[in-house]
Amino acid sequence: MHLTELQGANLRCFTEFILTPVPGVNLLLGENGAGKTSVIEAIHILGYGRSFRGRIRDGLIKQGAASLQISTRWQDAHGGTHQAGLQHSGNEWQARQNGADVDNLGQFCSHFPVLSFEPGSHALISGPADNRRRFLDWALFHVEPEFFSQWRRFNRALKQRNALLKAQPGAEALAAWDHEFAESGEAIHYYRQRYLESLKPVFQDICRGFLPEGGLATLGYAAGWRQPQMSLLDSLRLNRDRDLQTGFCNVGPHRADWEATLNGQLQQEHFSRGQAKLLALSALLAQAKKFVDEKGFWPILCFDDLASELDSEHFRRVLRWLSGSRAQIWISGTDDQPAYAENFSLLQRFHVEQGRIADTQ
Ligand SMILES: Nc1ncnc2c1ncn2[C@@H]1O[C@H](COP(=O)(O)OP(=O)(O)OP(=O)(O)O)[C@@H](O)[C@H]1O
Ligand SMILES: [Mg+2]
Repeated sequence: MHLTELQGANLRCFTEFILTPVPGVNLLLGENGAGKTSVIEAIHILGYGRSFRGRIRDGLIKQGAASLQISTRWQDAHGGTHQAGLQHSGNEWQARQNGADVDNLGQFCSHFPVLSFEPGSHALISGPADNRRRFLDWALFHVEPEFFSQWRRFNRALKQRNALLKAQPGAEALAAWDHEFAESGEAIHYYRQRYLESLKPVFQDICRGFLPEGGLATLGYAAGWRQPQMSLLDSLRLNRDRDLQTGFCNVGPHRADWEATLNGQLQQEHFSRGQAKLLALSALLAQAKKFVDEKGFWPILCFDDLASELDSEHFRRVLRWLSGSRAQIWISGTDDQPAYAENFSLLQRFHVEQGRIADTQ
């Protein structure tokens, strides 16, 4: 699928902008502070209902305006055309799709599979574990129909069990939630582990191209309890006293994590920022590739300030990989680079200035 038109109003520095992108590569070029990231945020909001720089209420609405609006037209994988719009005040939102009101933001966003990469995305490799769990869950929400109901079940059980733990209940009251927690938790673990396993060869292949000097890259998964030696239910029972002491649940898929390793030994604390960025990019692109294999079409790929922290050779390797994809791609940067024209035939440049965007080709 690809966007055929993107409009934004009252988004950061923009009163209004309208873009007609190409299905190939769309370059957003301009000086610091011009508004490039804000355009990428508009696309990200369509896919997630929030920005990678925070919630809508955290500064996304143009100063002095009451709400922002984002509207788009797009073509789906079968050639069908659609339109949708979202208005958000930070607290309240309204959305329409193909002329009808939408009452569920998650459902609205599910039409826009967007994978975004921005300067903070190396945190996928070197930051806290919740980034890595969200990464797995994004894929599973889109490709595994059963996942969402198990995820909802588990999060409800986790919330209830944590609330109970704070009230210092008897063992019996706690046991009432253990079964629900363990059953949905095991299901989530199973989906995540299976997905990561299937991602691994694709990830390795991309890493071989991006970081051949780093040796073999691999991915390892930790369930969040002593799995497979122990079932989650047994682990809950074993940790009950500790949970009561700490007032929260210490084991389960909400503590799961995965890690990338280079050359069988280098882990997250060893990676340079450029290496972490390339590993995170490899993971994200592996995810995009898996998405195509499952769904038959590419998600939209957004790269904010792609060139930062990459030397020219690594930057070229990434562009070469992207040139083999059929995704709609958005790349922002301060400068045009010869490597763009060398790698992409369907290329549209937008020159972003303070509050204004012009097509330059
Ligand atoms: N809520 C807001 N209201 C008005 N202007 C804002 C708001 N939030 C941010 N800005 C301004 O919007 C402009 C665009 O910011 P943005 O981060 O999109 O720029 P950029 O082109 O990505 O810059 P850089 O190259 O530095 O990353 C900046 O000048 C910023 O100060
Ligand atoms: Mg920026």
